[in-house]
Amino acid sequence: MHKISLIAAMSENNVIGIDNKLVWNLPVDWENFRNVTKNSSFIMGRVSFESEHKLLSEKRNIILTKRKDYTSDENIETANSIEEALKLLKEEEEIFILGGQNIFEQTIEIADYLYLTIVHHSFKGDAFFPKINFDSWELTKSVKHEKDDKHAYSLSLNEYKKIRK
Ligand SMILES: NC(=O)c1ccc[n+]([C@@H]2O[C@H](COP(=O)([O-])OP(=O)(O)OC[C@H]3O[C@@H](n4cnc5c(N)ncnc54)[C@H](OP(=O)(O)O)[C@@H]3O)[C@@H](O)[C@H]2O)c1
Repeated sequence: MHKISLIAAMSENNVIGIDNKLVWNLPVDWENFRNVTKNSSFIMGRVSFESEHKLLSEKRNIILTKRKDYTSDENIETANSIEEALKLLKEEEEIFILGGQNIFEQTIEIADYLYLTIVHHSFKGDAFFPKINFDSWELTKSVKHEKDDKHAYSLSLNEYKKIRK
């Protein structure tokens, strides 16, 4: 059985994006994203895939869309449901779900791991990470980065494991 992990960066007020873009540029978060997701395949929503800030795996990228005829110049596969996307990647050891809001809302219940960067600031946004029930998640790692000349905000790189009762 493969591990299902969500990976996201959100502000203190749960903002993850605005106008289909990210709200910050934090190099240490990009570095962490690349390290954590190395050699893994991704699932993402069609809207996030069309963002100028989209992130693609060098392995497989499954784009969720209800459209039957969706195509792209990028090397992607499409799925019409979460179940279909997971089935396409059933041989993979760990799958990363990259968002956005709509997809996080539908997958937080089935996720086993959560890689969540918390940007210690409040922003205006139009896309949000779902409310997290922290009774269901154990914090297994947290690395804090202070503000510096490359990072306008301090941030915490947190990792959680689902508590299965
Ligand atoms: N900070 C972060 O970590 C992070 C990460 C990713 C994205 N974001 C932000 O999140 C925002 C985008 O989120 P969003 O909620 O607007 O869009 P989204 O979740 O990226 O994509 C939604 C689309 O996915 C498809 N979809 C949804 N559920 C589906 C299902 N069950 N089966 C098949 N297809 C399904 C639909 O595509 P069709 O309309 O084609 O049917 C839907 O319109 C942007 O602002 C982006 O920058 C932030």
